[in-house]
Amino acid sequence: LVHTPIKGELAILRNCLLITNDQGNITLLKQDVAMETVPSILQQAGLPSGDTKVRYLSDYQFLMPGLVDTHIHAPQYPFTGTSTDLPLTEWLNKYTFPSEQKFQDTDWAKKVYGTLVRRLLRNGTTTAVYFASIHLEATQILADTTVGYGQRALVGLVSMDRNAPDDYVDTTATAISKAERFIQYCQHQATSLLTPVVTPRFIPTCTLALLEQLGGLARRYNVPVQSHISESLGEVAFVHQLHPDFESDATLFDACGLLTDRSIMAHGVHLTDTDVHLMAARGSGVAVCPLSNAYFANGVFPFQQHAALKTGLGTDVAGGYSPSMLTSIRQTVVSSSFGHDHPVVDWKTALYMATLGGAELVGLKDVIGSFAQGKQLDALVIDLTTEDSPLDLLLDTESMDLLVEKFVNLGDDRCIVDVLVAGNYVTPQ
Ligand code: GUN
Ligand code: FE
Repeated sequence: LVHTPIKGELAILRNCLLITNDQGNITLLKQDVAMETVPSILQQAGLPSGDTKVRYLSDYQFLMPGLVDTHIHAPQYPFTGTSTDLPLTEWLNKYTFPSEQKFQDTDWAKKVYGTLVRRLLRNGTTTAVYFASIHLEATQILADTTVGYGQRALVGLVSMDRNAPDDYVDTTATAISKAERFIQYCQHQATSLLTPVVTPRFIPTCTLALLEQLGGLARRYNVPVQSHISESLGEVAFVHQLHPDFESDATLFDACGLLTDRSIMAHGVHLTDTDVHLMAARGSGVAVCPLSNAYFANGVFPFQQHAALKTGLGTDVAGGYSPSMLTSIRQTVVSSSFGHDHPVVDWKTALYMATLGGAELVGLKDVIGSFAQGKQLDALVIDLTTEDSPLDLLLDTESMDLLVEKFVNLGDDRCIVDVLVAGNYVTPQ
């Protein structure tokens, strides 16, 4: 069993026995257990041998925490892997808004969202924080789809009331009404795996009145907030032009009640030290999306200067081309090398951010992200020696550290043989 309970450190628990209950909580976690003693331990735990499902992992298999994608745009999935040739504003107008607008068609939403959720689970994303579109029905379909496939999800109906195309924008009143109805829809579901999120797209597409009212919703319903913050130089300049009275995105969000201890703000590449102070004081954090930042951000997230912030990783599909969090982990390490002579963020730290760091950012630090008694079992069964494994294990080593590093850098869905959320197998067929 492999996890990162402490940032930057890989913990390897050998010959580990892990037991879960019907709710998917870990009730026992014990290392150095001899195989032949398992039946008697189960008996002691009051687990009847006939009714208890037991799974043994082989030498080149291990369990790791499920990956947490803290920022992904579900309706942008159709054009993922294409169209990253323009700066942010032009990219939004040319590709993104037209793609999202199509989700007024609920059949299209069902098709795309089913495909996406299966793809994410296949790649080990057990928790995803989604931006949907401005459409209530399609966003409900996204929520239903995550519930149907058993993925843990935070889902936001996107709010915008200006600076967007005429056929893909709401009035302030409609935007608020849809956001509220979506929150109520999710809160009436009989699952703890789904959480609604208040989702102003970013400052340029929202009037101050909309932002203020969304802040009110977040407070009244006690739900998380997500948006984009200080992403690119162009975006920062546009906000200055729209709101000359405000110092920055962070101060404006804060004035509207949108910086809370449940705020998941994407990017933050251009936050100032004052912004970082403010966000840290509010308990807000950043979803770092290194691949999309390479295209749009005019910079790299400064991990050292912004160390006071909670940070998780995101794919930012389709600004980032890959739906796999492994790509995000790798790009985090690569990007952190720019301007230095070595990676400022090593792979173990990036893995932490993709698991426990992400869990902390989304308010689930005590629930998922690592293995501990009382936590939920959201996990991946990794097999390094499947027939079509891309790892080609020629390295003469027994070092689990090196083998996990190989998986993180070279592995893919061929190595992820099973996926569990809340103790249930949710591996797509
Ligand atoms: N800012 C506002 N909308 C978006 C989006 O869809 N993607 C990214 N990367 N930035 C945004
Ligand atoms: Fe984004």
